[in-house]
Amino acid sequence: MQPLTLNNDHFPARNNVNFQAYCSVSPLCRPAAERAAAFIERQCEVGRGVIFEYTGSRNIAGRFRQNFGQLLRTSPANISMVTNTAEALSMIANGYPLQAGDEIISYVHEYPSNHYPWVLQAQRRGAELVLLDDVEPCQDSRPGVGAVANSFARSWSLDELEAQITPRTRLVALSHVQFTGGFAADLRALGDLCRSRNVDLVIDAAQSLGCLPLYPEEYGIACVAASGWKWLLGPIGTGVLYTSPEFREKITITMTGADHMRQETEYLDHRWNPYDDGRKFEYSTVPYALVDGLSAAVEEVFLPNTIEAIAAHNWHLQDLVLEHLDTRRYQPLVHQPQHRSGILSLIPRRGTAKAISAELDAQRIIITPRDGYLRFAPHLCTTEEEVVAAVAALNRIG
Ligand SMILES: Cc1ncc(COP(=O)(O)O)c(C=O)c1O
Repeated sequence: MQPLTLNNDHFPARNNVNFQAYCSVSPLCRPAAERAAAFIERQCEVGRGVIFEYTGSRNIAGRFRQNFGQLLRTSPANISMVTNTAEALSMIANGYPLQAGDEIISYVHEYPSNHYPWVLQAQRRGAELVLLDDVEPCQDSRPGVGAVANSFARSWSLDELEAQITPRTRLVALSHVQFTGGFAADLRALGDLCRSRNVDLVIDAAQSLGCLPLYPEEYGIACVAASGWKWLLGPIGTGVLYTSPEFREKITITMTGADHMRQETEYLDHRWNPYDDGRKFEYSTVPYALVDGLSAAVEEVFLPNTIEAIAAHNWHLQDLVLEHLDTRRYQPLVHQPQHRSGILSLIPRRGTAKAISAELDAQRIIITPRDGYLRFAPHLCTTEEEVVAAVAALNRIG
């Protein structure tokens, strides 16, 4: 395994909690907190001058696009600053040229940020939202593990997706990683399928960016939206949007204001003259302090490493969980290697996920419940010792 380049001082939350929940709201990494605080402090000191300082030499927006361009292996021109995944996907769904009779395909258990934007537009325009079903319960061959009960969200299948694509299908909207059971899409296979059928592929990467490789141009993805405060260790109130130039051109602007016009601060020049790169979606002021915080996290924690090495580290920690877990008490949902993510979901055989999570909370061990699962989600700064201690506590409770 490739060692990670980490600065221990970047992860102060370690001193307070055994945090195994990077699929939830993550502790801010220190560089994010410091850069956000520096902006706030400067606004406190000088007011409007802070904007000139930060659009000048420090150039928050340019640096943000540069950093995410590098992370996603694309041009900075394809990156937009957003405040959350739902905002990004709402702008995309609202502006997409969807007509009566068109079809969008998604999955029945998507997170709301990647569900309601499509529901709303399908209803308003007389299009159809086709929802992929769950696959049949999977059988894990290891002794004592068994099949996952039907009541749990599991995964969609590429075969069903392929069967559902018709000449009216315009777009597929799926999460890279499902927030409940941790199923990861095989993005290469998904991208190939969508490309071969001339369908736009939109990916919600809130549960993968910073944890799994995601290179939209290599995989043929039209659009990626993600939040900054989970696997990227950034502030709540930040997110990122990637759009390919061809896809972006199709999207009509539905949110507008001063900041995406080419005439910049000539506010009384009211010509309709928006940028056509990623700035198209940056319609007005954003929380600059927070955006710069997220940028710092990418720059100082993620870019010094490869995402492949981060994923390998996280899977090694998950293997430790599986090695130490008492499977008489918890049933792990183990995916095929190409569908593995940062989330390892467990089904308690006794008690509820919520009650067990609350008990762990009291011991300062953070493992979050969702939809009946307990989600083990360690990350690049998590140690083997922390994982083993968390599993031991779990085994004692169950
Ligand atoms: C798959 C997925 N998408 C999006 C989000 C968050 O969306 P937003 O940034 O709109 O709050 C989550 C949060 O749990 C998620 O799991």
